[in-house]
Amino acid sequence: MPSDTLGRPLRNLRISVTDRCNMRCRYCMPEAEYVWLPRESILTFEELDRLTGIFASLGIRKIRLTGGEPLLRHDLASLVRRLARHQDIQDIALTTNGILLARAAEALHAAGLRRVTVSLDTLRPERMVAFARSARHGDVLEGIAAAKAAGFASVKLNTVLIRGYNDDELLDLLEFARATGAEIRFIEYMDVGGATQWDMGKVVPQREILDAVAARHGQVTPLREHDWAPAERFSLEDGTVFGVIASTTAPFCRTCDRARLTADGTLLLCLYGENGLDMRELLRLGASDEEIAGRIGGVWSARADRGAEARAALADRGVLHQIASLRADPRREMHTRGG
Ligand code: GTP
Ligand code: 5AD
Ligand code: SF4
Repeated sequence: MPSDTLGRPLRNLRISVTDRCNMRCRYCMPEAEYVWLPRESILTFEELDRLTGIFASLGIRKIRLTGGEPLLRHDLASLVRRLARHQDIQDIALTTNGILLARAAEALHAAGLRRVTVSLDTLRPERMVAFARSARHGDVLEGIAAAKAAGFASVKLNTVLIRGYNDDELLDLLEFARATGAEIRFIEYMDVGGATQWDMGKVVPQREILDAVAARHGQVTPLREHDWAPAERFSLEDGTVFGVIASTTAPFCRTCDRARLTADGTLLLCLYGENGLDMRELLRLGASDEEIAGRIGGVWSARADRGAEARAALADRGVLHQIASLRADPRREMHTRGG
């Protein structure tokens, strides 16, 4: 099992199954038009199944399906069913915007999906129209309810907080999550590819989030866990647990055990990474499992990425990529590399 140059194991794989999305969140897809990956370049379920076996042999134990919006991929449950057959894969999770979740939840659960995370940035439908160009807020709420009803081991909510947009809803969202029985994570706005309107002034830092929660709810106690997840978790006196993902002000690169696969089969070693390994070519040119495993092991052993920490160390931090550089290589986009 390979470890990288900082001793980090390869344990967690995020698979983007499509770069397309039916929302246009301003922190992710703010432009009017996008260049999509060509359809024939998108990995098939057979290819993803085979790669999963190879990754499992190298130590991958957790898979998270992402997008774009993963539920835009036809019959995602059948992919889950295939991946769940791999004995070494202990955990299959999904990150979705929730619009199409209500009618898919039961089938996904039956196929072996165990955890679902739904993005929810606002409780106000009109804000979602303005901010994400979607009028389907009601469908998202139905999706969350359906996920709870389907019996997933965990249903989480992701909220990217943006100053001047939804920071005034922090406490309402926390209350919604408590009432729903879902664990909410407040995410600092990140300067990732795609976030062409990012600036530090719009970031609501972890400290401010915790202060606002404490002012309303009293003591906020950190749950001192030493795991590899990006969220730091906290509890309130009534037992409510929530998380903060402080990738912008307090990056967690030192414990990052995740690789990511774009929908067209590029293996990336960091959310901010520039270079990838072309798995699609290896698959389609007939490489053996051993050869492919050898290539993955080789790039992981050489991995030194600390993308978010490197960004945090910059004195003058602006957007990561301008539009032209995103157009030149859409793999730099957050929706392509699987947020
Ligand atoms: P689990 O730990 O499996 O529950 O999932 P997760 O929290 O990693 O998944 P999710 O898709 O919900 O991601 C939550 C947030 O963490 C998103 O805003 C991601 O962009 C951010 N994130 C995910 N992976 C990385 C990463 O590799 N590096 C950094 N800096 N942020 C990440
Ligand atoms: N900053 C923080 N989180 C982001 N996501 C997408 N773009 C950004 C960004 N610029 C998150 C979404 C979703 C996950 C897939 O990635 O909110 O929860
Ligand atoms: Fe929003 Fe996710 Fe779609 Fe990006 S990929 S626009 S974060 S729903």
